Amino acid sequence: MNEHIQRELSSIKEKNLWRDVSSKASYKINFSTNDYLGYSHHPKVAQAAQDAIKKYGTGGRASRLISGTTDIHRELEEALAQFKQSESSLLFPTGFMANLGVITAILGEGDAVIMDELNHASLWDAVKLSRARPFVYEHASVESLEKILHRTRNYSKRLIVTDSLFSMDGDLAPLSEILGLAKTHGIWTMIDDAHATGVLGKSGIGALEHFGVLGQAEIVVGTLSKALGSQGGFVCGSKDLIDLLINKARSFIYTTALSPANCAAALESIKLIKSEPETREKLMGLSRTMQNDFKTNFKEQSKLLKETATPIVPFWTGSAEGALRMSEDLKAHGICVPAIRPPTVPKNECRLRFSISSEHTFEEVQLVSKLMAENFSVAS
Ligand SMILES: Cc1ncc(COP(=O)(O)O)c(C=O)c1O
Repeated sequence: MNEHIQRELSSIKEKNLWRDVSSKASYKINFSTNDYLGYSHHPKVAQAAQDAIKKYGTGGRASRLISGTTDIHRELEEALAQFKQSESSLLFPTGFMANLGVITAILGEGDAVIMDELNHASLWDAVKLSRARPFVYEHASVESLEKILHRTRNYSKRLIVTDSLFSMDGDLAPLSEILGLAKTHGIWTMIDDAHATGVLGKSGIGALEHFGVLGQAEIVVGTLSKALGSQGGFVCGSKDLIDLLINKARSFIYTTALSPANCAAALESIKLIKSEPETREKLMGLSRTMQNDFKTNFKEQSKLLKETATPIVPFWTGSAEGALRMSEDLKAHGICVPAIRPPTVPKNECRLRFSISSEHTFEEVQLVSKLMAENFSVAS
């Protein structure tokens, strides 16, 4: 076995695909977190978590169905359902597990799942585990989705599944059109709103609010680990769906409950999202500024930048080597920007991925564009 491991590690290194888990805490400017609103260390959020530890202790202690459920779990589930404007909601220890739980609970062999080609890894793994047959449409393409809907018309159980905000591209699924088609064909839609929750929409509800289609998707999944500054995942849907998950979702049943401190932190963040629209406005302003600066500074190469209406700004480099080189050069200036490479993205679609937080300053986002323009005249 050791030989196989060594061989695989060498091959990863040779292809410039090596990853490590070194701490990024020492960088002056960090564009690599999903802490979009800076709530992971907001004093009120931290205080709520500390109070919960005093009251409930540190761990989840047992599975939700045994003795892991506390009043704060129920309070957060009610708050999430109300925030997302759905009938009911259920917490999972992570968003990954929420996706595994839903798809394996409602789909099985002989069913069809209709997926955007760029859906998150957790959705792909969930589909594999469920044994439903995946049908893949081209990224964010309504025409391609329509063709797949036609091809799968003989399946009695079908589900459309898409990320709302694609984490590596920063772009959005055309949710109004997707939900319209789903309605026409009488199919349910599951939206993974992990990156849009707390970020998009007038009230920060997410991508469905952004597109004016709140309440039209039957299943919405999210995470507490990004804009909500905590940890954990959740599913919103009908009371019947949630009852089925409680009784059938293995990644809910056979695991320890989310810790009460994480619940308390997320509850506080939801309150902040409601009371602090200016934080979201600043976040979007920072993203626009960074993209405008890229356009100005890389005029003749503007195709290198895919414009987004979100806090995720990809900067295309093509090769893994180019992405790594740029990332290393920025590190030398105290700036952390991850080089995104396969298997996260296809070969030759490598990129730097700027993940902006409302805690950044306008000077910081301008500095990075200036530094890149000075140092990288031609991206490779
Ligand atoms: C689109 C998407 N879905 C699900 C997840 C999983 O969420 P979690 O980190 O809570 O497991 C992530 C990221 O981690 C994600 O980007």
